[in-house]
Amino acid sequence: MRKKFIGGNWKMNKTPEQAKEFMIPFVEKIKAIDRDIVDIALFPPCLALNVVKNYSEGNGLIVGSQNMHYKDNGAFTGEISPVMLESLGIDWVILGHSERRHIFKESNELISLKIKSALDHNFHVVLCVGETEEQRLTSRHYDVIKEQLESGLADITADRISNVIVAYEPVWAIGTGKTATPEDAEEMHRYIRRLFKGMYNKDIAGRIRIIYGGSVKPKNAESLLLKEDIDGALVGGASLNPQSFFEIVNSVID
Ligand code: 13P
Repeated sequence: MRKKFIGGNWKMNKTPEQAKEFMIPFVEKIKAIDRDIVDIALFPPCLALNVVKNYSEGNGLIVGSQNMHYKDNGAFTGEISPVMLESLGIDWVILGHSERRHIFKESNELISLKIKSALDHNFHVVLCVGETEEQRLTSRHYDVIKEQLESGLADITADRISNVIVAYEPVWAIGTGKTATPEDAEEMHRYIRRLFKGMYNKDIAGRIRIIYGGSVKPKNAESLLLKEDIDGALVGGASLNPQSFFEIVNSVID
């Protein structure tokens, strides 16, 4: 049995003060949630990491960064390094989010360097992959996902893959209200699991957690999470509100 994983990616939203306003009710709401069934994670902007981390003490919440550089330090204006995150007690990171790939032009090669660095620092990585609408309409979606996974994980040996979660986030579903149907999402998740069997082995393919992202809301979470190969969700907009994010977490339990 794979443990479910529900992550909230706040993107460029919330000041430290607003993060505090979220955390106070949220930690109360999730007290009764059995963490043997589900991991709950929050990925706030870097300036709010400290606040979210402090409010997470003792209640088993995972707190991670939305991105990081692959070097420990140096002349990289505006970047945040794994060593800096470690100093805050942060050891989870999202890498390869489609907004990083498309808006900030991060290549598969750069993402691969970041994944290697993160795992070298014993971080857990949520590796995001996803096709654009144009790629899906021209039936290239499977090839795109294969390329993103194979290049991203090119240097990652089987003994290190247990620290990786894959988030399938079709670009056309992010922030658009257009969720993939549970059947379409399940089909891609099953394909990704098959890829892992080829890239690693059957055991790893069975254990790797593959979560879905793209307009996940309280009203559609349950139907997605019921699918056999969908191990959780990475939630953008609906994770900004403590009640709606809690309802998505709770849909794992219901
Ligand atoms: P939305 O839930 O706002 O569509 O964002 C999904 C996402 O990009 C999570 O990383």
